[in-house]
Amino acid sequence: MIGRLNHIAIAVPDLEAAAAQYRDTLGANVGAPQDEPDHGVTVVFIELPNTKIELLYPLGENSPIKAFLDKNPSGGMHHVCYEVEDIIAARDHLKSQGARVLGDGEPKIGAHGKPVLFLHPKDFQGTLTELEQV
Ligand code: CO
Repeated sequence: MIGRLNHIAIAVPDLEAAAAQYRDTLGANVGAPQDEPDHGVTVVFIELPNTKIELLYPLGENSPIKAFLDKNPSGGMHHVCYEVEDIIAARDHLKSQGARVLGDGEPKIGAHGKPVLFLHPKDFQGTLTELEQV
């Protein structure tokens, strides 16, 4: 059911420093910071040959990243995102297998303008898992 790894998201306490490290130390193709107020994050997209890395930094008072950084002050992997062809079919299959879908269970439009869902980390080896319909 799941397809390609679309991205890995890493929450960071210092977006400038993290972007500079990926650009200068790791030699990656690093984009400019983009504010995404609907999602409560500022994102730097990093294009790798086979996937993307997204550096996430809190934006606004109710950022979903803030609590994560409070628990992980030096940053850490926040979620992985897998591509699916049909997000409703994927959701219904996952629910039938006992997996918990976060929120109201309906897909939302994600950071890339495509429908996404998040799955409970406790059901997936402690890893917050995003599905994106491509
Ligand atoms: Co994501």
